[in-house]
Amino acid sequence: MDSKAFVVELTEQVGAFCRSFDSRPPAYSYIPCTTDDQRAMVMKSRFHNELQAADLYGAWLHSTPELEVKGIMAHSANEEVEHAELLAERIKGLGHDPFDYRPLPAQTGMFNALAGLQGTCARVAGFPLAGETVATYLIGKSLGSDSVPEWIKAPYRHINEEELQHGSIPQGVLERYAVTDDLQDAARRAVAMRLTLFKEYMESLDRWVLEGKPW
Ligand SMILES: [Fe+2]
Ligand SMILES: [Fe+2]
Repeated sequence: MDSKAFVVELTEQVGAFCRSFDSRPPAYSYIPCTTDDQRAMVMKSRFHNELQAADLYGAWLHSTPELEVKGIMAHSANEEVEHAELLAERIKGLGHDPFDYRPLPAQTGMFNALAGLQGTCARVAGFPLAGETVATYLIGKSLGSDSVPEWIKAPYRHINEEELQHGSIPQGVLERYAVTDDLQDAARRAVAMRLTLFKEYMESLDRWVLEGKPW
């Protein structure tokens, strides 16, 4: 299939996943949190995600031959470390330790699965396209919600600006490189895998933060 049409298919699928949270925003968005302790738990979990994102982009550099994509990944790795620093500062300011966080099993599973993706198309589809798009969508919801306090919104305003600037990069990469049936199949499977695991992680975070369960 034509790669532009293929990218539209994937983008619509991710968009539908995003909108599935509209009626009941997850703890991940901070919107249902009612105490600062709950908000700090979410922020610590998301701090971990920023670090994992930086590690993934960095780890993929070596096996990314496309110079253009290597540059994007290197830039993203640096940006994710900066996001982690912003959140760490905020977490410490609240008297919590960002580094004593123990990742939820579903969260570890999600990142381990992503780390196993091979090839630029599957990686870009599974990570920035199906992951960062969802994160950016939910950050937008947090920023627009009256139930999210300003001290949460402040670091995310900065993160959001950066993410919006390069929000369409994964689509462009896939249009240029996902040009065979096999590459498209790998990318489609990566998106399906990522969205399945992202949902598990979101639900686990809800249980941990909002219901007091271990995960
Ligand atoms: Fe990002
Ligand atoms: Fe980030």
